[in-house]
Amino acid sequence: MSGPKLLLSALRRLPVSRPPIWLMRQAGRYLPEYRELRRSVGSFLELCYTPELAAEITLQPVRRFGMDAAILFSDILVVPDALGASVDFVEGQGPKLRPIRDARAIGALDPSRLHAHLTPVYETLRRLRVALPENVSLIGFAGAPWTVAAYMVEGGTSKEFIQARTLARRAPALFGELIETLTAATRDYLLAQIEAGAEVVQIFDSWAGVLPEPEFVRWCREPLRTIVDSIREVRPDVPVIVFPRGAGAMYPSFARSVRPHAVSLDTTVSLDWARRELSGVCLQGNLDPVALAAGGDVLRMETERILNTLRGAPFIFNLGHGVLPETDPAAVAALVEQVRSASMSSATD
Ligand code: CP3
Repeated sequence: MSGPKLLLSALRRLPVSRPPIWLMRQAGRYLPEYRELRRSVGSFLELCYTPELAAEITLQPVRRFGMDAAILFSDILVVPDALGASVDFVEGQGPKLRPIRDARAIGALDPSRLHAHLTPVYETLRRLRVALPENVSLIGFAGAPWTVAAYMVEGGTSKEFIQARTLARRAPALFGELIETLTAATRDYLLAQIEAGAEVVQIFDSWAGVLPEPEFVRWCREPLRTIVDSIREVRPDVPVIVFPRGAGAMYPSFARSVRPHAVSLDTTVSLDWARRELSGVCLQGNLDPVALAAGGDVLRMETERILNTLRGAPFIFNLGHGVLPETDPAAVAALVEQVRSASMSSATD
């Protein structure tokens, strides 16, 4: 199939024959071919930094399901790793980082290492641009400054990120320095991904939802606006998707202020509401990953409801968060099939 890529058309709010589909975390542990490859290397980061393997894992869900986009296989924590926070993924425990909580630790972060450290990621993207079928879009990504800072201060994952939120309250100037370092690094990283072949970039602010409004504005919205503005200035041809997970009632003001090409909606957002309040931007989302893991009629009916609600709107079918490891690949195949056979015209046409 040739012609303009569906994902790029939807992001430019051009007419499409059906909504494009890809899934956050579409590569990973729910796929037997991923688990097999994962067993062959020592660590998860080694996978991320080995272009041949990272490219292969990126391609696995595209081959198996015929997704409309491939998302680079990597992790948001490669940026703190590049800055010197020594990231490690401990089996069964998630990521561990050297906690960054004072002026000395923040001052010791070294942005001059960024591109040298992340060269394998750029090489992965170059390989993917050559290997991908021509109708499949290549998505690069990074974590948002707030979410990445939260992992850095905490030293790992957390339910509520109390350490990071406390540092931001007690020492906002110091925390602001960390956010500024990450804002510049994230901008440089995304622009280098685009240079290496990413056609779209997505920024994950997975923990935006733990902040009250004034803090959300300061630590999530404003840094993201800076990054999106810079990308628009340097590469106005490359669409940006932003995922401020948990932004709730702040989604509309966020979208007006940050002006991304698309906003990714988490599972809590009503699509009727989003369609009304977020006109003028492409919407992405928001199937519940648990409905995907449940499969069968639950999945079919939820998918139908989403397709009906957003029919005719600029829309990218995706989940409200990442694919769960317990998901049956057959359910993903059924989902993709259902979306691919959807039509953009209304049921009565
Ligand atoms: O979407 C994709 O298919 C691309 C790959 C991708 C990964 N992580 C691979 C991964 C992407 C886009 C991410 C983003 C990411 N990483 C986010 C933002 C999205 C979100 O889920 O909110 C965050 C918060 C992280 C940080 C992270 N990475 C955590 C907390 C963990 C441990 C928990 C877990 O899910 O395993 C990871 C590990 C990770 N990142 C794995 C994969 C495939 C599992 C590693 C393994 O094989 O053991």
